[in-house]
Amino acid sequence: MSHVSDLISTDIAQYLSAHEKKHLLRFITCGSVDDGKSTLIGRLLFESKMLFEDQLAAVEADSKKWGTQGDAIDFALLVDGLAAEREQGITIDVAYRFFSTDKRKFIVADTPGHEQYTRNMITGASTADMAVVMVDARKGVLTQTRRHSYLVSLIGIQHIVVAINKMDLVDYAESTYNKIVEDYMAFAKQIGLKNVTFIPVSAFKGDNIISRSPNMGWYHGSTLMGFLETVEINEMRMQQQPFRLPVQWVNRPNLDFRGFTGTIASGLIKPGDKIRVQPSGKESSVARIVTQGGDLPMAVAGQSITLTLADEIDISRGDVISTTEASAEVADQFEATLIWMHDEPLLPGRPYLMKIANNMVSTTVTAIKHQVNVNTLEHIAARKLDLNEIGVCNISLDKPVPFDPYEENPDTGGFILIDRLTNNTVGAGLLRFALRRSHNIHMQHVDVNKAARSAIKQQKSCVLWFTGLSGAGKSTIANLVEKKLHAEGRHTYLLDGDNIRHGLNKDLGFTDADRVENIRRVAEVSKLMVDAGLIVITSFISPFESERTMARGMLEDGEFIEVYVSTPLQVAESRDTKGLYKKARSGELKNFTGIDSPYEVPENAEIVVDTSGGSPAEQADKILEYLKGNGYC
Ligand code: ADX
Repeated sequence: MSHVSDLISTDIAQYLSAHEKKHLLRFITCGSVDDGKSTLIGRLLFESKMLFEDQLAAVEADSKKWGTQGDAIDFALLVDGLAAEREQGITIDVAYRFFSTDKRKFIVADTPGHEQYTRNMITGASTADMAVVMVDARKGVLTQTRRHSYLVSLIGIQHIVVAINKMDLVDYAESTYNKIVEDYMAFAKQIGLKNVTFIPVSAFKGDNIISRSPNMGWYHGSTLMGFLETVEINEMRMQQQPFRLPVQWVNRPNLDFRGFTGTIASGLIKPGDKIRVQPSGKESSVARIVTQGGDLPMAVAGQSITLTLADEIDISRGDVISTTEASAEVADQFEATLIWMHDEPLLPGRPYLMKIANNMVSTTVTAIKHQVNVNTLEHIAARKLDLNEIGVCNISLDKPVPFDPYEENPDTGGFILIDRLTNNTVGAGLLRFALRRSHNIHMQHVDVNKAARSAIKQQKSCVLWFTGLSGAGKSTIANLVEKKLHAEGRHTYLLDGDNIRHGLNKDLGFTDADRVENIRRVAEVSKLMVDAGLIVITSFISPFESERTMARGMLEDGEFIEVYVSTPLQVAESRDTKGLYKKARSGELKNFTGIDSPYEVPENAEIVVDTSGGSPAEQADKILEYLKGNGYC
């Protein structure tokens, strides 16, 4: 069964070479679970004779095994290659299938319909010329249909075919078809989809797939295959955009050769063309276009090449080479559309890794401007984005990157977000525009600096970052540490959860989103105080590894000292000095850490305080020893 996909992986490069491209249509299929996508693709492969005898035999055997009625072949089995998806009855990854007819070659990305696999749909869609949206005639236009169509419009796919499937199960009724067309068009107009074509089909029975259905005399349009073979697409679209080469690696086999390798995202290039490298802005001109098959006189979007330049300039992975007349922009603050793809919600203030072209940078969402309701397209206020939700956000990167608005160039304007701890892809996004703000605010240079401020106090400034459950003993020990330091003439400041939440952070509660923001602000304040030369002591539950890592990252090496106050939940709960555990257990208090909100135990804390191993005063002494032993005071 893997023959078809094997064929693709080995031959795909050749098929995509620039001159073959004009015969090629890439499309995606999307829709809800059970709408029949796999059956449809299986049918297309079958009818275009891309199946081999042995595969057919296997499918026939499988069809029997998996309980398809009669002798009919279940085409879905052909494409549902993964064992897991058969067991669950859903498709769980993007599978690229290849088939061809006399008129055209096709690559179809079979994308999953299950709600949580929106991510794969986007992966498939980003290179597609056309989308086939499957609608079950019995069910009509569903939320998932709307969401996928909305995504298709965001991604910028020009042509959409709505395949109204399972017409055999609604007696091939024209009225059913008309109703779905009407519903869909009402939505399509709102999201600005222009080229929408409706085709009533039965993928299972074969109606209107290759040949015209005798069961639907009322339909006069083309068959699905007829449409796929003739739809006009603008293959030159990316070639007509300005030249962009996101550098994938610097090829330097010996001192005589230095080339910059990557796949051309857009435009065309010739030796002699003047280029600009972003973000540095340095200029030069193209000396050679090197490929495995020899030097080229010209190269275009889609080709993988190595450029050599007339001048020696510093270029590294992630830089973008443009022609001087229209170069990429550079910025570190953007408005972007985000599509969230993970069970854990997107939280503003939390750091994520962003992969854009060949760059990997750290980023945070500074504000969710609004979330989009995919059914009504209303803009709604949101403090987080849950799985599959779409929002327009302001984002801030830790360094400037070269980019283009997604609308102009999906390769330099599209990005994914990656969780820093698990490395999972958690979101995808499209850059809309740079926020000018970032250009207008410059860091002010000051002459009296951190070192000078620390030196005058005869100490090395740092943060002792206490973390642990409520009632673990953080504040008690933190307070003792400050007292002892103060007695020795050290300059300190204690930031304590309960106190800060009465002032600076009194607008925040205890949802995950609010805790992230609580810690972000505390980390920023600590950073300022470290800059002031102080030994800062913070005492916050700070339950998430992610924000503790962020706080660490905001400070210089050695300035962040994590102190994990390790007290078992039972012990903290039995103390219950504020009576909060009791309230949490009775349900009166929600989102209580350790009860119905998680605490992620630190794995690399500099100091672990085991409160069963000595009195608070002894623990405080241990921390002072650490500071003295490491030259802080
Ligand atoms: S954090 O999670 O955002 O770091 P923080 O340390 O500021 O929490 O505040 C914790 C203190 O708030 C606790 O010691 C407790 O007194 C109080 N509190 C009130 N509600 C909650 C809650 N739902 N979960 C944890 N602490 C709470």
